Order: sequence, then C-alpha cells, then structure tokens
Amino acid sequence: MKNAYAPYSKFRVGAALLTTTGKLFLGCNVENASYGVTNCAERTAIFSAVAQLGPKMKIRAIAVVNNRNAPCSPCGACRQVIYQFGPEAIVYFLGSSRWKQMSAADLLPDGFRLP
Ligand code: THU
Repeated sequence: MKNAYAPYSKFRVGAALLTTTGKLFLGCNVENASYGVTNCAERTAIFSAVAQLGPKMKIRAIAVVNNRNAPCSPCGACRQVIYQFGPEAIVYFLGSSRWKQMSAADLLPDGFRLP
C-alpha cells in the first residue's frame, strides 16, 4: 500500500498473497493517465507471484488493505484472475462494516474457464 502509484484517485491499495507453497508476495495499485489500464493491487501481487514462481503458482489466500480503511472488495477483473490461480483461495477484505473472508469461487460464481 505504501508503494501504490495512485496520483489520480489517491486511493492507495495493498495486497498480500500467500501461495499454496507458503511464499508471500505483495502488490499495490498502479494507476495510469489512461485510467482504464490501471492495475489493481490484487493483480499486481498475482502477476508478481507468477513472474517469480511460474505458471503453476496457486493462491492459498490474498488480503487487501487501503489507506482509508474503507470497504474494498476486489473488482470483477481481479475476482476472475484470483479465481484462475486459486478457486479455493480465501480472500480477506474490508466489507461495509467488518472484515470478511470469502473463497474466490464464492466471490465469483461461475467464473470463466477456457473450454
Ligand atoms: N483498486 C485496487 O487496487 N483494488 C481493489 O480491490 C479496488 C480498487 C484500485 C484501482 C484504482 O487505482 C483505485 O483503487 C480506485 O479505483
């Protein structure tokens, strides 16, 4: 979260990813002047883990924090990416009134898989 590049929203997000092999990877949001290509903290952590460990990387858990302590559940794009690398991963995030934990499959029912 401290490393976030968020000059537009000022909403700094951090993610901590634990792999099924017990390794930890961090991510932050990285915004862009072309807003739509912004990368969320969750995907930054996942892509970093894949870059270090390769395509067999699986997520055991991922937690999301932000600088406003505001409710922040993963966006739809991140849910799909989390699901792909760990349908059973536990996702920790701040809900509207309390911390929540949900599996990736519960966060994204019927997630897409390439046939
Ligand atoms: N953001 C994340 O990094 N993760 C989330 O779960 C929600 C949103 C970022 C994207 C953008 O940089 C900023 O928060 C505002 O949408």
